[in-house]
Amino acid sequence: MKTVPQTLSLFPEMENAGKRFPQPQYLGAKFIHRDWIKEFIPDGVDVALDAFSGSQSIAYMFKQLGLKTITNDFLHFNGMIGKALIENKADVLTESDMSVLMESNSNPDEYNLIDRLFTGLFFTAEDSAFIDSLRSNIPRLASEYKRALAFTIANRALTRKVTMGHFAHTQALAYAADPARVKRNRSLVRPVRDLFVELADEYNAAVFDNGCECESHSEDIMNLLPRLDNVDMVYFDPPYCSSHADYQSFYHLLETFTVYWKDKEFVNGTKRYSPKRHSGFDTKGEAMASFGRLFEMSDSIPYWLISYNDRSYPDIDTFVGLVSRFRKVRVEKKQYGNSRGGKGSVAGSHEVLLVCNPY
Ligand SMILES: C[S@@+](CC[C@H](N)C(=O)[O-])C[C@H]1O[C@@H](n2cnc3c(N)ncnc32)[C@H](O)[C@@H]1O
Repeated sequence: MKTVPQTLSLFPEMENAGKRFPQPQYLGAKFIHRDWIKEFIPDGVDVALDAFSGSQSIAYMFKQLGLKTITNDFLHFNGMIGKALIENKADVLTESDMSVLMESNSNPDEYNLIDRLFTGLFFTAEDSAFIDSLRSNIPRLASEYKRALAFTIANRALTRKVTMGHFAHTQALAYAADPARVKRNRSLVRPVRDLFVELADEYNAAVFDNGCECESHSEDIMNLLPRLDNVDMVYFDPPYCSSHADYQSFYHLLETFTVYWKDKEFVNGTKRYSPKRHSGFDTKGEAMASFGRLFEMSDSIPYWLISYNDRSYPDIDTFVGLVSRFRKVRVEKKQYGNSRGGKGSVAGSHEVLLVCNPY
C-alpha cells in the first residue's frame, strides 16, 4: 500500500462528502447500497478499482473517500461518466460551451443516425433532430472532459425521456401519449433539449478533485487487468446471467449515440446494434469460466469486494466455492425490506457482498 502524499488532506472524505452523485437510473446500480458497501472497505486501502462500474456510483464513492480510483466498464457510454466524474478534476460546461452545444447541426450529412433509426420508435422528429445536432456539436468542445460531461448529461436526459429508462421495449411513444403515465412522469413529454439543460448544473456540481490521479477505462476487464499494478482493492459488480445481464439490449441507444456506429447493423424492433460487444459474463455457457479467469488475473490485488444478488447464477454456494480457491470469504447480507432493492432487483431478495481477504 502507498503512503499518503504530503499534499493530500488528512480528511479528504470530509471535504468531498458534500459532493453529490447525480441520481442514476441504471439496472443493477448499487447507488442505494453505497453506504453499506463502504463499511467493508479495509483500513489502509489507497488505490481502488471498480471493475464493472456501470453508472459509476461506487467509483464515485471511492473518489469521495480520497482513494485513487480506477474505474472500468466495457460500454463506452458508461466510460464517459467515468471520464466526466471520476478522472476529471475540474472541467465543467460553461455558458459558452452550452451555447456551442445548442447550435444547429454542424454536419447534417454526417450526424443523422438518431433520426434515421429512432424517430417514431423512441423519439419525435423534433427530439431526434436535436439529439443529432447536439451530437454533432460535442466534438467542438475544447477538452476530453467537457466532451465526456456532455455525453454523460445527454445520455441521462435520454433515459429520463423514456419510460423505465431503458430501450429494450418499443412502447416509448405510446407511453408518452398516455396521460396517466405522463402524470407520474412529466419528463416523458418534455423536449430532450430542456432535460439536457436542466441536468447540466447538477452534473457540473458533481465534478471535483480528490488529490489523486484517478483513471477511467472502457474495455473488457480481462484486457485491462494485466496492465494494472499496485491496486489495493477491487470491487466486482459483474452482470449475473439470471438477472438483467444483457446491458447492451437495455442501453443500446446510449451506446449508439456515444459511439455513433458506422460498422454495425441495427436489428430487431428496438434497432439494437449488431453484433454486440463480447462480455463473457452474460451467458450461462461462459460465466463460470470467465469468473475463474477473472479471479486468477486479480490475484495480485489483495482485497476484493464482490456484489452478488441471491437470485443470481451461479448459485451462492458454487460461487463462494470458486472465490474460496483464491481468498478467505465472508458473506454479508442486506435485506431489502419492504421496498425494492434498486433497479432490477426483486422484492424480498437480498443484496449480498462477499468480503474477501488474503489467506
Ligand atoms: C451490475 S452492472 C454494474 C453496476 C454498477 N456497480 C453501478 O452501481 O451502477 C454490471 C456492468 O458490467 C459491465 N460489463 C459486462 N461485461 C463486462 C466486461 N467483460 N468488462 C467490463 N465491463 C463489463 C456492464 O456494461 C454493466 O454496466
